[in-house]
Amino acid sequence: MEINTFITKEEISNRVRELARTISDDYAGKDLLVVGVLKGSFVFMSDIIRELTIPARLDFVKLASYGSKRESSGKVRIDLDLSFEIKGKDLLIVEDIVDTGLTLSELKKILLSRQPASLKICTLLDKPSRREVAIKLDYRGFEIPDKFVVGYGLDWDEQFRYLPYVGVLEEE
Ligand code: IMP
Ligand code: MG
Repeated sequence: MEINTFITKEEISNRVRELARTISDDYAGKDLLVVGVLKGSFVFMSDIIRELTIPARLDFVKLASYGSKRESSGKVRIDLDLSFEIKGKDLLIVEDIVDTGLTLSELKKILLSRQPASLKICTLLDKPSRREVAIKLDYRGFEIPDKFVVGYGLDWDEQFRYLPYVGVLEEE
């Protein structure tokens, strides 16, 4: 197995800064609650929140894991729920990657039933060619082709999350 750098550390940090600036403008004066989807989003989320210029609260949700497979089952189970009551809050869900869109659209349904004031999505990566259900992405770092990527929080079978860049996993 070989990993080829696809998005460098520098490219990521520049894009993260831009996204954080837009988010800070959009949420000025609001009651922002940033919700990270564990585990994949934790690196992206920790970088983005430190570039915000507005106050924000943080929370996490953990869904049933992707495991070692590369296909989304489309079924979402909450493994670890939020620790905040989200009714009336302005929610920003932070994801690592949107592939088929099934995970996020299910999560969105669950969270919307709790009546937040608003709910937006911020994803580092987007693979639109793989989409099975339409989902609006309010903030998006990079659009990527249909390749399996790892690093910067993203894993393959729990490996490679620690890499500071996004790389393509090539199988020999
Ligand atoms: P979706 O439900 O198909 O949109 O799947 C989204 C989830 O699948 C992401 O949160 C990731 O955990 C995982 N995933 C999808 N594509 C990749 C990839 O290229 N690398 C690592 N994880 C991926
Ligand atoms: Mg994920």
